[in-house]
Amino acid sequence: MGTKYWQEFLIPYHQAVDEIVLKFTSLKEQYEKIGEYSPIESVYGRVKSVASILEKINKYGVDIEALEETIQDIAGIRIMCQFEEDIYEVVELIRKRTNCDMDVVKVKDYLNEAKPSGYKSYHLIIRYPVFCVSGKQSILVEIQIRTLAMNFWSIIEHSLNYKYKENIPEAIKMRLINAANAVNEVDREMSSIREEIQSAQRLFGIKSSLVTSILDNIGHLYKLNHGDKASHYEKIFDDLFAQEDIIQLILLRKELESEVNKIEAEV
Ligand code: GTP
Ligand code: MG
Repeated sequence: MGTKYWQEFLIPYHQAVDEIVLKFTSLKEQYEKIGEYSPIESVYGRVKSVASILEKINKYGVDIEALEETIQDIAGIRIMCQFEEDIYEVVELIRKRTNCDMDVVKVKDYLNEAKPSGYKSYHLIIRYPVFCVSGKQSILVEIQIRTLAMNFWSIIEHSLNYKYKENIPEAIKMRLINAANAVNEVDREMSSIREEIQSAQRLFGIKSSLVTSILDNIGHLYKLNHGDKASHYEKIFDDLFAQEDIIQLILLRKELESEVNKIEAEV
């Protein structure tokens, strides 16, 4: 088959890769615009080279007529995430597009169980409709979703594999597995740091609304000419605030609320 055949054959794949990269990049930008955290860190796409397609045809003895169905990564998308948890959010984003523009036809979860090499990633094969000059076509696209750390490992491992033509010495293989374990440790540690930050932020939110409500009600007591009570509660508040005693602050807020309600009812 000539170059012209391949060029034409690959047109819808180029179209699909361009479109899908744009769709995910634009999602990432939308999160930024509305001031929300984006589970997508970066997006990358490529169309398999003719040389690699031919290599795969030879390796697996693929029937060239059935090429489109048997080689499922001619169009490839890679989505990078900051945290492992984000990967599942991205999967959800894709699943929501069922019957719209992306239908999941295969899932390979190498997150919970890494490949023997140490490789980790979440793979989806989707069916994607493209409209080209030649008409409508539904093609298969491979989407790989992984963290930045997983990507770091897999890019280096891939380049070593390439260099050693898949005959990596056993000792190096072992060290790559060790490196993969270290990468997992980094991802786990980053996730737990994130969780701590998030719960600290949640606590900070609770504390700040507590403080606002308590100080409002103390101000209220002053206005209602109950200065003695106000300064009494002010002292209690200062102590609890210094001790960061959230539970007692919650109780204080309750007490102040009923105190203010009582006095207002008397007025
Ligand atoms: P191919 O490996 O593409 O022939 O298909 P498969 O049916 O084995 O699918 P699999 O999900 O195992 O791999 C698909 C793609 O994932 C590969 O083309 C690579 O991009 C990536 N991948 C899989 N295993 C490894 C690995 O051990 N190291 C690296 N760096 N990438 C891998
Ligand atoms: Mg493979």
